[in-house]
Amino acid sequence: MVKVTVCGAAGGIGQPLSLMFKLNPYVTTLALYDVVNVPGVGKDLSHIDTDTKLESYLPENDGLEKALTGSDLVIIPAGVPRKPGMTRDDLFAINAGIIRDLANGIAQFAPSAFVLVISNPVNSTVPIVAEILKKNNVFNPQKLFGVTTLDCVRANTFVAELSKDKEASAFDTRVLGGHSGETIVPVFSQSAPEVYKELSDEQKAALVHRVQFGGDEVVKAKNGAGSATLSMAYAGYKLGHALLAAINDTPNIIESTFVYLKDSKIKGAAEAFKYINEKLKDSDSSDVDFFALPVVLSSNGIEEIKWDILEKVDAKETELLKIATGQLSKNIAKGTAFIAGN
Ligand code: NAD
Ligand code: LMR
Repeated sequence: MVKVTVCGAAGGIGQPLSLMFKLNPYVTTLALYDVVNVPGVGKDLSHIDTDTKLESYLPENDGLEKALTGSDLVIIPAGVPRKPGMTRDDLFAINAGIIRDLANGIAQFAPSAFVLVISNPVNSTVPIVAEILKKNNVFNPQKLFGVTTLDCVRANTFVAELSKDKEASAFDTRVLGGHSGETIVPVFSQSAPEVYKELSDEQKAALVHRVQFGGDEVVKAKNGAGSATLSMAYAGYKLGHALLAAINDTPNIIESTFVYLKDSKIKGAAEAFKYINEKLKDSDSSDVDFFALPVVLSSNGIEEIKWDILEKVDAKETELLKIATGQLSKNIAKGTAFIAGN
């Protein structure tokens, strides 16, 4: 019996994401929540002849409470997307408050749920959720996931385009750091060594840049109509499905996610925190409490952080990680301060 709740279910990501969860055999109840249009989306999906029971809620009549109560997995693609010329950080002014309010709902009505945060800027919205859950004494780092899967998906696709003999599905690229521009660090030296070592320095730099700024390609092509929705729904579903499989006792699933490290008891968290903050960050910038890293999933959520990848990356990737931490520490501090000041 698994209840999944999608917050922002009527949006560009929310609709295809909800469609995929309606088809997922692990999901017994799918609750859709949005501030607009969700009754129509829910009615439409409810005609699909899978066994998943569909519920849809607007804010009135305690909609958020009903959507969240009993939920095992809450996925959040709520909030505004970018238009050309905007950075993800430009979304903070609107999305931070939306995420804060949803996190308060989760703390009250679904305090034990796994929470997957898609809304941008991920580097700040995930710290916002963590701070709200901490304030309410219900924070469990094993259950909070910043969704960076799209960076891995893009890295697989883009490296496959340069491969002589392998398709995208042959790759499982690890992407470290955060989810915006230079905080996104794909580690092809570890994930696709046979392709990577054949590339010139210019080709390597162009490949990394394409992954870091892949979101801009979509924003530009959509020309004012938003950012990635379909590839994002796929990526969010990929992580959500992996977690549902792990909850249902499939062993040894590894996915990358933006995970909380500081003071966390998760295996590998202390080592990751120490390595990142002592070896990859200036001593004068604030702590990098979260980082995208490969994690092993279990029925508890994040069972182990595979931090040793940080020691294995090459010299160029180490340089990129150092650039990433400088920006990340500011993004994380901004999210944390937003809650401290509220
Ligand atoms: P969208 O505008 O199409 O949909 C957002 C939905 O959120 C809308 O239906 C809106 O009504 C709803 N919403 C707004 N306030 C809400 C609230 N308080 N409670 C519940 N729902 C609310 O946008 P989109 O294209 O689906 O993108 C959503 C977010 O996902 C954006 O912030 C975008 O930047 C982000 N995103 C993240 C990634 C990633 O890799 N993590 C990738 C793509 C997009
Ligand atoms: C992405 O990477 O596609 C998302 O973060 C959306 C965006 O703003 O680029």
